Amino acid sequence: MRLGFVLLVYIVGMSAASVSSIIQYDQIQTDFNITGTIKCQNAPPWCYTVQLLELDSTLNDVIGSVSGCEITNPSQDFLLEDWQLFDGVFDGNFELELLIKHDCGLEITNEKQSLSLSFGHFSTARPSFERIVEIDLSKNTTKIIGYSDWERRLGKIPH
Ligand SMILES: *[C@@H]1O[C@H](CO)[C@@H](O)[C@H](O)[C@H]1NC(C)=O
Ligand SMILES: *[C@@H]1O[C@H](CO)[C@@H](O)[C@H](O)[C@H]1NC(C)=O
Repeated sequence: MRLGFVLLVYIVGMSAASVSSIIQYDQIQTDFNITGTIKCQNAPPWCYTVQLLELDSTLNDVIGSVSGCEITNPSQDFLLEDWQLFDGVFDGNFELELLIKHDCGLEITNEKQSLSLSFGHFSTARPSFERIVEIDLSKNTTKIIGYSDWERRLGKIPH
């Protein structure tokens, strides 16, 4: 009886130790994949930069960035792929935002315009983050039009 209890304490202690070692020492990688279209109905040429930001109370991190210019078309597809390592802290959360800077419909001398799309808060334990977005620079609008396959199958967006 007593031996059994000691053994149980030992086993519980061992598994707690291995869990805490995973949390403390393993880094978790999150793969990011943001794709979509960006439109400018006004007179081309136009240029843009799309940045995926991790908002932080002290400093915002740029996870990934993609830039382009369009000479003839009013629309361009973009793909932003990157990854980030998070050390497994207990309250591991990140807040994501897409920041778009552009000169659509502006004179060359004008300062670039910007608009943003907030994705919200997610766990750093998340293996991947995928979104398909539609950006209309002429209307100054952004829209999420697609999620990861596994999120769609789940029928909700887990954080
Ligand atoms: C990124 O997302 C696009 C659109 O959903 C998909 O075609 C592509 O295969 C994805 N890339 C990776 C590495 O998952
Ligand atoms: C476009 O939208 C952003 C918010 O995403 C806003 O800060 C900005 O002032 C808007 N620009 C124009 C020209 O309306």
